[in-house]
Amino acid sequence: MPHRCRAVRGEVGDRVTVPMAMTMTMCAGCGQNREPDAGGGFAAHHMEHDGVGGPPCPGGRPWRTWSYDPGRFPFPALVALALGEDDLESLRADLPRRTWRTDQQSPWHAPFYEGFGGWRRVFRAFVREAVAPRVGEPFYYQAVPTFRVHLPGNVAVGEFHTDARYHHPPGEVSHWVPLTRAGGTRGLWIEGDDGERHAPDVRPGHVVDFDAVHSTHGNLVNRTGLSRVSFDFRTLPVRLLPAEEGPPTEHTRMRFVPGGYYAAGAVAP
Ligand SMILES: [Fe+2]
Repeated sequence: MPHRCRAVRGEVGDRVTVPMAMTMTMCAGCGQNREPDAGGGFAAHHMEHDGVGGPPCPGGRPWRTWSYDPGRFPFPALVALALGEDDLESLRADLPRRTWRTDQQSPWHAPFYEGFGGWRRVFRAFVREAVAPRVGEPFYYQAVPTFRVHLPGNVAVGEFHTDARYHHPPGEVSHWVPLTRAGGTRGLWIEGDDGERHAPDVRPGHVVDFDAVHSTHGNLVNRTGLSRVSFDFRTLPVRLLPAEEGPPTEHTRMRFVPGGYYAAGAVAP
């Protein structure tokens, strides 16, 4: 099925062609076109979820978008409070281009991690109530989510990469949680099997699930004039925890074990 979205192979600093008429024709959950099928109707799953939630779309984008109740889990407000900021889209700092060594360094990263204890319970409830039913089997989850700040004129992560390169075990699913609107040059770009990179167009209340271990992903220089803030975390089915421990994380040297990178206790749906 043809797409109405053109995208460039993204490298840091590349020009980007923003998806055309996204809301009218494209299923944001899978990127497939919502043109009428041969019978004159839309494919059933697109009608059901209108691009958010629902079953996977064969042949679509290499991610799945779903939604949660931001009233029950008010992550943007909780993070803004921890950062001491009123508007997460207005963060500004004149920092050198971030690299994989420096992309966890900004004026807001330390406050995020120091403040996480204040809303850890909300995050845990989110994992149990909103994420667990989607995993569908006992799983471990990343104990402390990873924070991202995508400032205008800069990148949020230093390079396009797979998480396998940073020793993450196969079977992990990454859950990317935007705290501002995200897409285009302030989005997360994910490479599909066709070798093209695309960015989901999402907002607070959405979660993007994808296989960061194997799918190349990264971002472009943010040319929107507005900052993007997000956090992400990973889940791993208990049955897929490697029998032999591998190398630790690159940044924090945490071990990929329960009680290390993962919370000590498994969650069952
Ligand atoms: Fe990654």
